[in-house]
Amino acid sequence: LLVSPAISAAADYPEHPISMIVPFAAGGPTDVVARSLANEMGKVLKQTVVVENKTGAGGTLAAGYVASSKPDGYTIFLHHTGMATAPALYSKLRYDPLKSFEYIGEVVDVPMTLMARSDLPPNTFKEFVDYAKANGDKINLANAGPGAVSQLCGSLLQQAMGVKFTTVPFQGTGPAMTALMGKQVDVLCDQTTQTLPHIAAGDLKFYGVTTPERLKQLPDAPTLDEQGLKGFDVKVWHGLYAAKGTSPEAIGKLNEALKVALKAPAFVDRMEKLGAQIVSEDRQTPESLQKWLQAEVAKWGPVLKAENISVN
Ligand code: MLT
Repeated sequence: LLVSPAISAAADYPEHPISMIVPFAAGGPTDVVARSLANEMGKVLKQTVVVENKTGAGGTLAAGYVASSKPDGYTIFLHHTGMATAPALYSKLRYDPLKSFEYIGEVVDVPMTLMARSDLPPNTFKEFVDYAKANGDKINLANAGPGAVSQLCGSLLQQAMGVKFTTVPFQGTGPAMTALMGKQVDVLCDQTTQTLPHIAAGDLKFYGVTTPERLKQLPDAPTLDEQGLKGFDVKVWHGLYAAKGTSPEAIGKLNEALKVALKAPAFVDRMEKLGAQIVSEDRQTPESLQKWLQAEVAKWGPVLKAENISVN
């Protein structure tokens, strides 16, 4: 019996380790989700899924790298909301988020929190607003560059508060958090996947949650909306991608592994502890991610233009 090489390659996939590209630094929020996910997906695929951090340009370098990688199913990409904001922020991208990728499925939604160095004078968000108005650009706001959600959140926050801080970009909020802990920067808007352990330890100041609803993990912590920033609502969504042209068989196997991983008790437990919400089953599909990304690109373009948020 003769089997065509393409069919047998699809049947045998994956035959060697898979790289999961993360667009920000190791140890940060995206990396934390990626490492748990890679571990669980690897068990289903019976191959190691190796996390590789390719940092730079707010996640767009990694996206460009994946877009031009061989579409053989051995390079996959975990990215967040930045996939949808980058086209409005960068006039030239090496890729088109709506054309250069195959979609595997959505992964988790993660709220954000506004954090400050432990010795910044304000103790509450109300005090921070007065402090920010008095100190303006003397305040250093850390972020992970244009295309990062820390940048998006920080920009929306400055707009809503009517202030302008000095921005200090890092290769991810992992290193930005190290700088905040070291008191080299003043404030950081970051995902709970990195901040919840710090909030629990009380080693930083914590001014509020960026979603309109309080977090189950922090029932006593007020939202920014409750504290005066009416309508403030930033939540980060994550999707899993491969290069355009990856075979439907490989995408099918990757999607199956994703769905199993999203139910794995160790993954569920870890995400719960970090405030990440696993997406509902109807969102764990390639079709859903594609539709969602289209809607998000359409949503953020005008918002970022209207708010004059772009790479400068
Ligand atoms: C990271 O993983 O470092 C963050 O997701 C970066 C960001 O703020 O977008």
